[in-house]
Amino acid sequence: MDRRDLETAVAWIRSAGTVTVLTGAGVSAESGVPTFRGSGGLWQGRRVEDVASPEAFAADPHAVWRFYDERRCRLATVQPNPAHEVLARWQDRFRRFTLVTQNVDGLHALARSRDVLELHGNIWRIRCVECGREREDRTAPLPELPPRCTACGGLERPGVVWFGEALPEGAARDAWRATETADVFLVAGTSAVVYPAAGLVEVAAARGARIVELNPEASALAHLAGVALRAPAGEALPAIDALLSGVPS
Ligand code: OAD
Repeated sequence: MDRRDLETAVAWIRSAGTVTVLTGAGVSAESGVPTFRGSGGLWQGRRVEDVASPEAFAADPHAVWRFYDERRCRLATVQPNPAHEVLARWQDRFRRFTLVTQNVDGLHALARSRDVLELHGNIWRIRCVECGREREDRTAPLPELPPRCTACGGLERPGVVWFGEALPEGAARDAWRATETADVFLVAGTSAVVYPAAGLVEVAAARGARIVELNPEASALAHLAGVALRAPAGEALPAIDALLSGVPS
C-alpha cells in the first residue's frame, strides 16, 4: 500500500462531513468467505443464472436451495474480520456515515454495524413466495429442502436478490441518497461489475465525491477513484483507522 495514497485517503476522510461506503465480497474474503469472480470464486465453473435467478428457482427450487444451504453452512462458521470491525466503529466516528453492502452474509451486522443497507438481501432471511411472510432463520443445514412456510404451506425462497430482480426499495432509496450527498465514497472489495449497485460509484463521482478504492486489484470502475489502496480491506481499513485516530505507525 502506497504511503502517500494512504495519507491522502485519510486527509479526505478526516475532512468529510458525509462518508458513504460500498462493500462487496472482498471485504468478507479475509473471514474465509469466497468471492464470486476470479479464481476460486463462487461463480467459477457455474452459470450464475442456474442458481441465482427467479427462472432457476422456478425450474428447480431444490437445486437452488442446495446451493444456498451449502453457503449458509459455510457462512455459519465464519466471523467478521478487521475490515468489518473498523466500519462498525466508523458509524460513531462520523456525523453522517452510511454503510451500503452487496454482501448477503450478515457479517457487517455481526460486527455490530447498525442500519446496514443490504442491497442484495440477506442469506439468513427466508421468504414465502406465496404469502410473502419473511423470517430470519440461522439453522444450517436446514432440516428440509426446500423449506415450507409454516403459515400457509407455500414454498419459501432465500431472502436474497437474484439477477433480474429489483433491489429492496427502501435500501436502494437510502443508498442513492447517501451517495448523492457523500463527500467521500469508499468502494471496498467489489469488482463493481454488477448493476445497479456499481452505479452508486458512478453517481458519487458525478456528484463530485472523492472516491477511494480499497481492493488489491483494480475494479471495473477504478478509473473513477482519486485514490486506490491496493491492499486487502482487512489491512487498508485498520491502517486508515489508525491514522485517523492518531496512532503512530
Ligand atoms: P466479486 O467476486 O465480483 O469481486 C470481489 C472483489 O473483491 C474483487 O475485485 C477482488 O479483487 C476483491 N478482493 C478480493 N480479496 C479482497 C480483500 N481481501 N480485500 C479487498 N478486496 C478484495 O464480488 P462483488 O463485487 O461483491 O450478487 O460481486 C457483486 C455481486 O455479484 C454480488 O453481490 C453477487 C454477485 O453475483 C448477487 O448474487 C445478486
